[in-house]
Amino acid sequence: MGSHLSLLDATRALRETSFPDSARAFFAPGRANLLGAHLDYNGGVVMPVALSKGTCAILVPRSDGRLRFVSANFPGEPIELALDALRPQREEVWSSYLEGAIYLAQQEWGEVPGLDIYVDADLPMARGLSSSASVQCVALFGLARLLGREVPVQELIQLAHRSETEYVGVQCGVLDPMAVFLGQPDRLMHYDCFTGEVEHLPLPADQVAIAVMDSGVKRELAGSAFNERVQECASSFAVLKQQIPELGCLAHLRREDFEAHRGLLSAVQQRRCEHVVSEVARTEQASAGLRAGRLDVFGAAMTAAHASLRRDYEVSTPELDALVEAALAVDGCYGSRLTGAGFGGCTVAVLHPDAIAGFSEEVPRRYREATGRDTEVMIFRPAGGPAEWSLD
Ligand code: GLA
Repeated sequence: MGSHLSLLDATRALRETSFPDSARAFFAPGRANLLGAHLDYNGGVVMPVALSKGTCAILVPRSDGRLRFVSANFPGEPIELALDALRPQREEVWSSYLEGAIYLAQQEWGEVPGLDIYVDADLPMARGLSSSASVQCVALFGLARLLGREVPVQELIQLAHRSETEYVGVQCGVLDPMAVFLGQPDRLMHYDCFTGEVEHLPLPADQVAIAVMDSGVKRELAGSAFNERVQECASSFAVLKQQIPELGCLAHLRREDFEAHRGLLSAVQQRRCEHVVSEVARTEQASAGLRAGRLDVFGAAMTAAHASLRRDYEVSTPELDALVEAALAVDGCYGSRLTGAGFGGCTVAVLHPDAIAGFSEEVPRRYREATGRDTEVMIFRPAGGPAEWSLD
């Protein structure tokens, strides 16, 4: 809670005078995905945790129909525009995520007031920890509260997802907003993106710690090869669906059907499908391992996922590989992989809590030796979803 209070203070400090009574403060977490990499938009199972770091937003309604965004993470002039000037893919700036949330709320709920929004995030930005979903979700959650609307959480998840795909223009799946909204303390989510079914599996803090390491290489999601991967999967699915009409999504592709029809796919499509088919099997192994208390089995699935992301999905970087290797070299580390889309950003590792001190020293040292870069180990416990904070 300590970091949360300082996050609220920092957000508050963005406004020099005090807030009017109508101001409300909200928080939404970031997330780390442990298994089910790039399965969300393919209809598979994802296994993320919400993090105890995220985004704080203070919302102040205004009566002139204008929007003004101020961020502690992007110092400089506030971004200002009229509510009716919101347009999908208007311009790719940090406020796009807030704009998208407001635009979708306006479309779905009707009347939205002008707003001053102050945001501060204690998550590394654009590093695979869902800083973007965190800001979209905090805005939607806060707006619903401000408007006094009872909005079912599934609707908030869908709106945040549409805000990213329709307004910002990244063709991502539902993983990020779902992980932000449905997080539970000390639990891992098991979410089936095809059926929408969610389960929360225990990750007891006395048995497992989650470490996140920043490679220091920033990734550009919208401008990157992310949308290309989505396309490659969609085109593979279209080819396979002609042969297997009952196929509901790429994640339902059975190994034997893939082998029977792989000749119809390009070499790149075959690699993407190989990742999807093998990652689905890893989510099954990992959840069986976790249910049986076998963290070693769970961790091995994560490590194998990283190899597949590197070799078949081609979204790793030398820095991410070096971080994973550094983590695996430490006793007590069960497994590690890149988290988020890849192309830079962070890795995540699961370890025994007794190993935290050694891990926090060893990993940065090994990473510096391998790459000349610095990193630090951030230890997390799985956290809960969005909340309103008191401004008193
Ligand atoms: C990004 C996207 C998610 C998901 C992950 C990969 O974080 O926003 O929807 O596809 O990459 O698992």
